[in-house]
Amino acid sequence: MLDKYLNKITQGDCLGLLKNIPDESIDMTFADPPFNLKKGYNTYKDGLKLQEYLSWCELWIAEMVRVTKPSGAIFLHNIPKWLTYYAAFLNKIADFKHWIAWDASTMPMGKTLQPAHYGILFYAKKAKALKFYEVRHPHKRERKSAYLIKDYGGKKPILHPFGPLVSDVWTDIHRIKHNKFRDEHPCQLPIHLLERLILMSTDEQDIVLDPFMGTGTTALAARRLGRNYIGFELDKDYAEITSSKLSREKGYSKIGDAWVSFYLNNIATLRDDDWDYLKQFFIISSKPEQIDYIPITLKAFPKITTPIKRGPGPSQDELNL
Ligand SMILES: C[S@@+](CC[C@H](N)C(=O)[O-])C[C@H]1O[C@@H](n2cnc3c(N)ncnc32)[C@H](O)[C@@H]1O
Repeated sequence: MLDKYLNKITQGDCLGLLKNIPDESIDMTFADPPFNLKKGYNTYKDGLKLQEYLSWCELWIAEMVRVTKPSGAIFLHNIPKWLTYYAAFLNKIADFKHWIAWDASTMPMGKTLQPAHYGILFYAKKAKALKFYEVRHPHKRERKSAYLIKDYGGKKPILHPFGPLVSDVWTDIHRIKHNKFRDEHPCQLPIHLLERLILMSTDEQDIVLDPFMGTGTTALAARRLGRNYIGFELDKDYAEITSSKLSREKGYSKIGDAWVSFYLNNIATLRDDDWDYLKQFFIISSKPEQIDYIPITLKAFPKITTPIKRGPGPSQDELNL
């Protein structure tokens, strides 16, 4: 049954489609559902009554948990208001790991503090069985001088040459600001956000499922990282945009044998476990105390458009449209 949906974008209502996915068959589930903020989607009407919205959310969240493997991770992206309800429900059926605060300005909501983060709830299906990898992001530096933004004082020489372990506050990934990087969709996520979640919680060839695929961020991230994906999307146009992007996506996001996440010409995320192998690809100053003004650089920027050798990918006629 899984094969029918594997490495395809299937157009339809995720609630019905999820029923066809076997129990405990998916390595990572991620959902970025409509936020009930009257966004202008093509098909979906984003303005349900409070209880109607919450009851609907409980149905697909329960399905996400059901299909996730015991070793699997469940991620839910939304504004904090809805995540409080999600967490109360999820706490009964999965194991809480983190509330990731993704620093990104959001819509003002009336007489309130200015909302400045979205949340990503991170649950394990079973905490003890969870597959999880620590990941690192580059040191934050002042754009022109390249000086470290944080003052590490006497600890400079013992800093990791690449950058710190990723915490539960993410300030280094920005929402898509330029229209040239955006599809005709009101709330497309950046691909390297999904790549970070995928690197944290899956291995090559694992299966990532997103029931609200939009214009394909999760599928593209999975494909770039050599993972399999399953995507559902209600709207035909969005599903078509995704499928067309996937059919053009030849890249695989690697340095040597290690999967990494790139953003523009930099690495946004790499796995801590891969560092001993990856460091041979970097120029690293022999004087660790100079880390505050000499960033490490890649010896040669690797081609990431090499045709896929082992990663999965669809052909046009494989797409479930
Ligand atoms: C917040 S957007 C997802 C955006 C996506 N993360 C991206 O980066 O492109 C939510 C999506 O869910 C879709 N949607 C709404 N109801 C759905 C349903 N019942 N089944 C599948 N998709 C649905 C909407 O059409 C919309 O594209």
